[in-house]
Amino acid sequence: MKLYIETLGCAMNVRDSEHIILELQKKEGYTLTPNLNEADLILINTCSVREKPEQKLFSEIGYFAKNKKEGAKIGVCGCTASAMGHEIIKKSPHVDFVLGARNVSKITSIIHRPKAVEVDIDFDDSTYVFADSKKSSYKALLNISIGCDKKCAYCIVPFTRGKEISIPLDLILKEAQKLVENGTKEILLLGQNVNNYGIRFSTPHAKIDFTGLLRELSGIRGLERIRFTSPHPLHMSDSFLDEFAQNPKICKSIHIPLQSGSNQILKSMKRGYTQEWYLNRIAYLKQRVPHVGISTDIIVGFPGEEDSDFEETMKVVESVRFDTLYSFVYSPRPNTSSYSWGDKKSVPKDIAKERLNRLQTRHKKILQENSMEELGKIHKVLIENNKITSNETFSEGRSDTNRLVKIREFIDMGEICEVIISQVKGSTLYGEVLCR
Ligand code: SAH
Ligand code: SF4
Ligand code: F3S
Repeated sequence: MKLYIETLGCAMNVRDSEHIILELQKKEGYTLTPNLNEADLILINTCSVREKPEQKLFSEIGYFAKNKKEGAKIGVCGCTASAMGHEIIKKSPHVDFVLGARNVSKITSIIHRPKAVEVDIDFDDSTYVFADSKKSSYKALLNISIGCDKKCAYCIVPFTRGKEISIPLDLILKEAQKLVENGTKEILLLGQNVNNYGIRFSTPHAKIDFTGLLRELSGIRGLERIRFTSPHPLHMSDSFLDEFAQNPKICKSIHIPLQSGSNQILKSMKRGYTQEWYLNRIAYLKQRVPHVGISTDIIVGFPGEEDSDFEETMKVVESVRFDTLYSFVYSPRPNTSSYSWGDKKSVPKDIAKERLNRLQTRHKKILQENSMEELGKIHKVLIENNKITSNETFSEGRSDTNRLVKIREFIDMGEICEVIISQVKGSTLYGEVLCR
C-alpha cells in the first residue's frame, strides 16, 4: 500500500505529518510515494490560518480525484479539517474521511471507516506515544504542547487545535533521548506558546515551567542544539531569557512574534502586551545575548490600522532590526472575534498591500545590512545539505543564530563545524571552515 501526503502550514503540521506517516508505515504497512497516481491513500494536511490555502483545498481535491488510481482513498487532515469538519465531505464527495489537527492518533483507525469525520478539538492525545523510526535526521521536531489558550482576535488556531495541554516531561525526555540515540543533534521544540509550558497537563504532574524543561533537556548527552518555536512575548520573563542566554545548548536565535507595533492595534488584537513591553524584552535579550538572531511575524491591515499605527510597526522594525520577518496581510477567519466585526473597520486591500510592500522592502535592506555585519564573525554551523548547481558546489547549514551559511567544500551532513564568514553576497553568507 502506498501513501502520498501533502503538507501545508506550520512546523506543527510537518510534525503531525511525520506522526501520520510513521503510524501508517509501522502499523498499516504503507510506504511513501512521491507519485500521486500510484498512491492507495492520498492525504492533505491542511492549514487554515489564512483564507487562501483554504480556498485552494477544493480545487486540489478535484485534481487528486481526477489523477488518482482507481479505488484510492482521499483524506483531509489538519487545521482546515478541524475548522470545516463535515462540510468538507458535503462539499466534496471525493473525500473519504476528515481528520482534525487534534486527532492525529486516530489515523490508523479512520482510514478503515468510510466517510468518518473526527474533528474533536477537546480530544486529548498528549500522552499518546506515536510510532517512531529507528533512524532520525540530524534535526528533529518534538512537540511539547498542543493547542492554545490565547484568544488573539484574528487567529483561528484555538478553534482548530483546542485548549493548551502540555505533554508530560517524561514523555518529552524519552522521545528526545530516543532521537539522540538514533542520530539527532538538534531538536526544535514545538508549541503555539512554548514558553507557557507546564500551564496544564491532562494527568497529575509535578510543577515545571519552560525554563525547567529546557534545563532537563539540555542534560541529555549527545543532544547538541536546542531550538524552540514559538515563544510568546508575554511570557518572556527574565528567568527564561537568562536561561536562554546562559545555556550553551540553546541556539541563540529566537522567534518573537510582534504582530503589530501599535499599542492600539495590539490591544484590539488582544495580544496582552504593549510596544514598550516588547522593546523592553528585546533590550534585555540583546543585553544578555548581543549576537542573538531574532525573527518575527507581523500582520498588516488589521481592522482599524491607520497609517500612524503602521508607522509604529515600522518604528519597532527599525529598532529591533529582525534577521527574519514573516509578514502577512490580515485575512478574516471565521469564528475569530475580528471576523465578527465585519467590514466596519477594515483596511482597503490596496492600502494593506502597500504597507506590506513597504515593510518587506525595508526589511530586505535591514537584512542586507545585518548580513554585512556578519563578515569576520565565527559561527558553529550544522551541515544539512551538499549541493551542486550549474556554477557552484557547496555544503550549507545553519549557524546557531539561524543564518544559512554556504561553504564551498563538501562536508559530511550532520557535522557541526566552526566557520568564519568570509563573504557576503546580498544577504547570502559564505563561510570557510576553521575547525571540524
Ligand atoms: N502562536 C503563534 C502564531 C501562530 S499562527 C503566535 O502567537 O505568534 C502564525 C502566524 O500567522 C501568526 O504569528 C500571524 O502573524 C499569522 N496569522 C495568524 N492569523 C492570521 C490572520 N487571520 N491573518 C493574517 N495572518 C495571520
Ligand atoms: Fe493564535 Fe494568538 Fe494562540 Fe498564537 S497565541 S496561536 S496568534 S491565538
Ligand atoms: Fe499551523 Fe496553519 Fe494550523 S499555521 S496551527 S497548520 S492553521
